[in-house]
Amino acid sequence: MKSTVIEHEKKLAAYESVSLVKNGMIVGLGSGSTAEHMIRKLGEEVEKGLSIKGVPSSERTAQLAQEVGIPLILLKEAITLDINIDGADEFDPKFRLIKGGGGALLREKILAHNSKLNVIIADSGKKVSALGKFKLPLEIIPFATQAILAELNKMGLKPVLRKLDGGAYRTDENNNIIDIDIFGVKEVDKLNGTLIEIPGVVETGLFLKTTDIILMGQGSETLFFRNTR
Ligand code: A5P
Repeated sequence: MKSTVIEHEKKLAAYESVSLVKNGMIVGLGSGSTAEHMIRKLGEEVEKGLSIKGVPSSERTAQLAQEVGIPLILLKEAITLDINIDGADEFDPKFRLIKGGGGALLREKILAHNSKLNVIIADSGKKVSALGKFKLPLEIIPFATQAILAELNKMGLKPVLRKLDGGAYRTDENNNIIDIDIFGVKEVDKLNGTLIEIPGVVETGLFLKTTDIILMGQGSETLFFRNTR
């Protein structure tokens, strides 16, 4: 699909999500290009008088939020968020996600876990019948990188250490990311349990139970999906 259409769909979903944010709320601010549209729009609302506090899921998001005038607090000052709005790399019909394409999965998952309401904003390209076309990111401790790569190789998951500027990519928590191939895996819940038990794996990009609402831009419309679990 053309990138201009995708951009428009991202904006539709992002702008719609801002209408769910009310005065006095503590708002988890996701990361990635769709979340950035939401943050800019939220900044406009704050300028018009909306009173909220944001908790950023990455350093990059914190910087943008500050630029657009959203007051920020730390998670420890809030503990529970009223609403958390974030993007996704993929979502399936069971509201399960792959996240972490932008490398912020650990803090993103912590915010999602500690929010009363989780809203995912996405373009229509993110909707899949089964997770796994997108490579699954794992955040891992650098001390264990080579051992984990070897173990994942043995499991047939084709691990690739994410790189940046010639070196290993570092997350905001100073960890590494390994991207693995889970295409065709049917029991993602079971796989997630296996992965998280490997010592040194801090978190996976599988978000299996947190999503309440998905707002998806499609053409000129925004579709609303609510998880009724
Ligand atoms: C960041 O770590 C990711 O989880 C993003 O939420 C995800 O990659 C979606 O990004 P886009 O909105 O840029 O597609």
